[in-house]
Amino acid sequence: MAIIIVLVVLTLIILYFFSSKASPIPYFPTNSQDMPMIVKAMKLANNQVIIDLGAGDGAVVWAAATSAYEKGLNTQFVAVDINIVLVLWMKFRRLVHPHKAHISIIHGDMFLLNYKKIIGSKKPLFYLYIAPWFTKQVHKMIQELNIPCTILSYFYPITSGKSQKTAHRVHELYFYTIR
Ligand SMILES: C[S@@+](CC[C@H](N)C(=O)[O-])C[C@H]1O[C@@H](n2cnc3c(N)ncnc32)[C@H](O)[C@@H]1O
Repeated sequence: MAIIIVLVVLTLIILYFFSSKASPIPYFPTNSQDMPMIVKAMKLANNQVIIDLGAGDGAVVWAAATSAYEKGLNTQFVAVDINIVLVLWMKFRRLVHPHKAHISIIHGDMFLLNYKKIIGSKKPLFYLYIAPWFTKQVHKMIQELNIPCTILSYFYPITSGKSQKTAHRVHELYFYTIR
C-alpha cells in the first residue's frame, strides 16, 4: 500500500513538472557542452547582476557563479522560474554553492517582477533560453525597463532585435545590447 501511495505521489509530481501549467515554456536545460561558451560570453565582473529568466534547474547559474567565485568577484546571480519543483530544487542546490551569498532564487512569473528593485545600481545581463514565441515579449519587457543591459539568448534569436554577435558550439548564442 505504501509503495502504491509513493508511486502515485511521484507520478503526480512528474506530471506537474512537465505540465504547461507549471512551465508555460517547457523545461529543457542548456547543453552542458555550451556552458563554457556561455560563461565566457557573460564577461563576469564586479557589480554585475546576471538574471536567468526561466532558470530551470539553475545549470547556467551554478556554472557562472562557480566561475565568479573562483575569480573572487562579487557578481550577483538571480535565478527566476515559475515551476515550483525546479525552484525548490534550486533553493536546495544553492545551500551548497560556494557563491551562495550572491545567489537569489525567485519563484515567479518573469513578466511580473520588479526588475528595477532586483537590479538596483548593478550592471544587468539577462540570460534567456525560452521558447521562440516568447522572445519578442521578453525583449519588449526588458527594453521598457530603460536600463542599459546585455541580453544573451541561447538557441533562439530574438526576432524583434538585431544581434550584435553570435557564438556557436553545439547550439547558437545571440548577443544583444540595450543602451
Ligand atoms: C528551456 S527552460 C531553460 C532552463 C535554463 N535557463 C537552462 O538554460 O538550462 C525554460 C524555463 O523557463 C521556465 N518558465 C516558463 N515560463 C516562465 C515564466 N513566465 N516565468 C518564469 N519562468 C518561466 C520554465 O519553467 C523552464 O524551466
